[in-house]
Amino acid sequence: MNLGLTDKPVIVCASSAGLGKATALEYAREGARVMLCARRESELRRAVDEIKSATGNEPRHVVADMTKPGDIVQLVEQTVAAFGGVFALVNNSGGPPAGTFEQFDDAAWQGAFELNLLSYVRTIRAALPHLRQARGRIVTFTSSSVRSPIENLILSNTFRTGVMGLAKTLAAELAPDGILVNVLGPGRIHTARLDQLDQRRAEKSGLPLEQIRSDALKGIPLGRYGTAGEYAKVAVFLGSPANSYVTGQTLLVDGGMVKAY
Ligand SMILES: NC(=O)c1ccc[n+]([C@@H]2O[C@H](COP(=O)([O-])OP(=O)(O)OC[C@H]3O[C@@H](n4cnc5c(N)ncnc54)[C@H](OP(=O)(O)O)[C@@H]3O)[C@@H](O)[C@H]2O)c1
Repeated sequence: MNLGLTDKPVIVCASSAGLGKATALEYAREGARVMLCARRESELRRAVDEIKSATGNEPRHVVADMTKPGDIVQLVEQTVAAFGGVFALVNNSGGPPAGTFEQFDDAAWQGAFELNLLSYVRTIRAALPHLRQARGRIVTFTSSSVRSPIENLILSNTFRTGVMGLAKTLAAELAPDGILVNVLGPGRIHTARLDQLDQRRAEKSGLPLEQIRSDALKGIPLGRYGTAGEYAKVAVFLGSPANSYVTGQTLLVDGGMVKAY
């Protein structure tokens, strides 16, 4: 299938590692003009080099913290200056801290709101004039927790469901402009973040890490963690011209883990 991405300008947020980097790599493979961002420049440079040597297509990068409004404006402005517009915006950021209700004060709730919901409102607002011009695509990464809450992740469970409400509403509001808006929920995709979460579960429960992992696999019908590359292919399809009729949807990439419809 031709995804129609040659020379399309694309922003992939939080993309020096994990799901973001894999998505940037797939876009680069498809010939898109890709802008990466993250907080640490050294990691960004490493990701740019990796993507360039794998695809021959050199992405650009901006150092940006998704919780800082000024950084988000810079990210969009520099993308437009470099590539002349924005066709696809892929929203992603770090995960909030793990923990239960009584562990978090107002500052923690506010921080998670800014990281996992308000940041996406800001990226969409900044990119919207360009997305309108391009009749573009918005894809936002959340978690399988939008269908089934995950134990010990109350901050994530709370704000990521808000992203679904945002996306479903925007899908209708922006449809007349030809902009398609979707959400992706990773289940257990093997990245550094997943390793950290498994490690914390092991420490909290006192069980060996291997047991935590083998118990997790029992809940996944496909019997393994997903790879970031598998996840990225779905993200890139939704955020491409080849996707011309899927909007307002939340799709889990979870190997069948979540049993809800
Ligand atoms: N992997 C999974 O199976 C899974 C499942 C459910 C949900 N998720 C969620 O999906 C998102 C991505 O997960 P991942 O597994 O790819 O994580 P990861 O491997 O830890 O990668 C996170 C990336 O985001 C960047 N980042 C973190 N905080 C940022 C910020 N404030 N501003 C800009 N960039 C930031 C990091 O670079 P810097 O640190 O340099 O900024 C890095 O490039 C997270 O929100 C995670 O909670 C993942």
